[in-house]
Amino acid sequence: MTIPSKMNAMILTGHGDLDKYEWRTDWPVPTPAADQVLVKVGACGMNNTDVNTRAGWYSKAVTGATDTATEETPDGDDPAWGGAPITFPRIQGADVCGEIVAVGAKVDPARIGERIITDNWLRDSDDLQNKNKTGYYGSELDGGYAQYTVLPSRNALAVHSDLSDAELATFSCSYSTAEGMLERAQVTASDTVLVPGASGGVGGALVQLAKHRGARVIALASPAKHAEVSALGADRVLPRTPDNLSADLKKETITVLADVVGGPFWSTLVDVLERGGRLTTSGAIAGPMVDLDLRTLYLRDLTFTGSTVIDLAVMPNLIRYIEAGDIRPSLAATYPLADLKDAQSAFIAKKHTGNIVVLP
Ligand SMILES: NC(=O)c1ccc[n+]([C@@H]2O[C@H](COP(=O)([O-])OP(=O)(O)OC[C@H]3O[C@@H](n4cnc5c(N)ncnc54)[C@H](OP(=O)(O)O)[C@@H]3O)[C@@H](O)[C@H]2O)c1
Repeated sequence: MTIPSKMNAMILTGHGDLDKYEWRTDWPVPTPAADQVLVKVGACGMNNTDVNTRAGWYSKAVTGATDTATEETPDGDDPAWGGAPITFPRIQGADVCGEIVAVGAKVDPARIGERIITDNWLRDSDDLQNKNKTGYYGSELDGGYAQYTVLPSRNALAVHSDLSDAELATFSCSYSTAEGMLERAQVTASDTVLVPGASGGVGGALVQLAKHRGARVIALASPAKHAEVSALGADRVLPRTPDNLSADLKKETITVLADVVGGPFWSTLVDVLERGGRLTTSGAIAGPMVDLDLRTLYLRDLTFTGSTVIDLAVMPNLIRYIEAGDIRPSLAATYPLADLKDAQSAFIAKKHTGNIVVLP
């Protein structure tokens, strides 16, 4: 296959609003380093990591919900997920499905032609277990909002599936985050898991993956999205912020709260956890600042776990679930990559259920 020297790419030029994206048709196609592969992008999923990083929402100076992030001024020192600055120009986009079209000197050429999805966690190859030495593809390294991308060979995972590229591009971030959370909370078939934001990328994956473990799942979502959340397998679906949650859940024993929403309703959610219950959290789309009554935490013997950098086994497990058809994609819409600003506006508006994907 002939690889061109220039490509289309959506370039992020700095932190701020959508006008920080620049559409380029003359961006250089990257060359794979010795341990990297060059991937022709078939589709790339959109995630809040892109929105948060673009807006600088990860900065401790920002305290509001994700959709209000650019109303506050991020600190220059901590605007990205890892607490350190990233450099610009940057190509975002983490969830690539594509084909390996070239390899670096240390990678087996037999990999050329493989269909892959990405493991987004970039690790130190000599210290793979060390979560302090990690970066995120599309954040610390250019990602997939382009026609071609390079990444370490170990981050390009072969996948055999009848799903389309767009469908496969929904899994990497949302589902690995969800599975990482369920691992941290050690969810089993004896649990009842409460999932706020169940219509979202991570929330929908939490529903499916908690059901895959045999747990009972109670989802919270805006009423217009209830049918789609039920179709993911939730046993019950309640509104986003029920008027009387504890009454609605009277006959339930909530052992796990798997939350990526946070915000003003968070303390009501924590209040319905059973004695010995577990909160696992990986996001705060409704706002990172929450009220916690410490007595709730200690008098009820609760355990709180945060989850971001996933264990090494998570992605290979997900590939197995995808290939076996145990989990399915939740694809809300596709947009041309050139229309990424429209795609991100729609993504932030949250009228959809599942994931939005761009096509180069
Ligand atoms: N730590 C990590 O590695 C990691 C990885 C992925 C995502 N995350 C984080 O997890 C959070 C959710 O990500 P996601 O991709 O699942 O998001 P998403 O697809 O945008 O969905 C979020 C869902 O939350 C619900 N929601 C409730 N209150 C909301 C509010 N005030 N504003 C917006 N949505 C609200 C919405 O559902 P309803 O309208 O149905 O209520 C929405 O569908 C984000 O903060 C993201 O940064 C973290």
